[in-house]
Amino acid sequence: MSSYPRIEIREGLVSIIAPDLSKYIVGNRPEPAHAPVFYNPRMEVNRSLSIAIVNGYISYTGKVGITICEPLSGTGIRAVRYAREVNGISRVIANDISEKAYELIRLNIDRNGLNDIINVHRDDANNLLLRAAREGGCDVVDIDPFGSPQPFIENSLRAIKDQGLLCVTATDVGVLSGKYPIKCVRRYGALPQKFPYRFEVGIRILISLIARYALSMDYGIQPLASFLDGHYYRVCALILKDRSYALETLKNLGYAYYRSGTLRRGFIPGYPIPSITRYRLAGPLWIGNLWDAEFLVNYFMRNIRDYFSSRAKEIGMLITDESLGPNIPYALTTEVGKDLGRELPINDIINVIRGLGYQAVRSHFHIKGFRTNADLLRIREIIMGK
Ligand SMILES: C[S@@+](CC[C@H](N)C(=O)[O-])C[C@H]1O[C@@H](n2cnc3c(N)ncnc32)[C@H](O)[C@@H]1O
Repeated sequence: MSSYPRIEIREGLVSIIAPDLSKYIVGNRPEPAHAPVFYNPRMEVNRSLSIAIVNGYISYTGKVGITICEPLSGTGIRAVRYAREVNGISRVIANDISEKAYELIRLNIDRNGLNDIINVHRDDANNLLLRAAREGGCDVVDIDPFGSPQPFIENSLRAIKDQGLLCVTATDVGVLSGKYPIKCVRRYGALPQKFPYRFEVGIRILISLIARYALSMDYGIQPLASFLDGHYYRVCALILKDRSYALETLKNLGYAYYRSGTLRRGFIPGYPIPSITRYRLAGPLWIGNLWDAEFLVNYFMRNIRDYFSSRAKEIGMLITDESLGPNIPYALTTEVGKDLGRELPINDIINVIRGLGYQAVRSHFHIKGFRTNADLLRIREIIMGK
């Protein structure tokens, strides 16, 4: 067994051994990517919400005895949590290409007495996914890389069963949300824009990548839950292996626009070519719903556990409320409060809009973000007392 500083970590209902991050400081912060095996305590939010989403998925679909494949396992904490915290799970496949990670995953499975449920491999993730596909496929595939998930999407779609759930993390939020547009074009085949709602553009480009891979195989997708949490996006989507769903999915691809003069924003259908091209556009991207509101309200929220962190609970509540709002990109309070000379509290703006009979909900994408179907220029005029 390799030797490096380690500590015991308790997260969810499990306890694991992980590298001692206090020994891997860069600047004045621990840097998980510098440790011999990757472990990021901040990703508890991602892991806890994934447990709630998978438990919700099980009751939503009525499946029993599901299998989960996690090809990029690091310490194995996610695989161990799935095995311990998902109801009626029959098998988890854990894997990592690194020898040190493989050793640690085995240790953590042993510590938690989960040898009967978790199979562990040391392989390249794409090989593992192709093997899983050959062996009949999995109900859930969870891709949690450091950086972009792009290299693993195509084989994940092969490894997943019909009506399976594909969960994907992307930590290249800067690329997807317009900081490095050409990199985004290269990696995701889509152009981002620095619109005020650029963080929503980013997640929609990520979903469109999954959708476009799925379409090439005659599959469709349906996002159940999507969110941004600081440095990463997370998307969980049903994969529907039927051509009729592929045709539906095609209708949900298009472009996003924004006009600073009128504050108008929205989507233009049409893929690969937009149906009109008057505006500066971002895309191609996903223009359908980012969430399945029924799934979030009736299945996901019931599976949020008391022991999850307060941040995980907060994001769970925010996206559930947001899923009930209109499918129009979020706006910023600074857009409607511009020229006022002071910061307007977001709840005041939401109340003004609701008082006029329009929908308005907070957006988890931005501290000053809200989603509304009102004419934002009109709202700005009302706020300015015109
Ligand atoms: C971000 S970490 C995984 C974190 C883990 N899922 C968690 O929740 O803590 C990504 C892992 O992928 C592994 N990895 C990178 N490229 C890989 C590949 N091609 N095949 C398999 N594992 C790979 C790395 O060794 C690293 O442990």
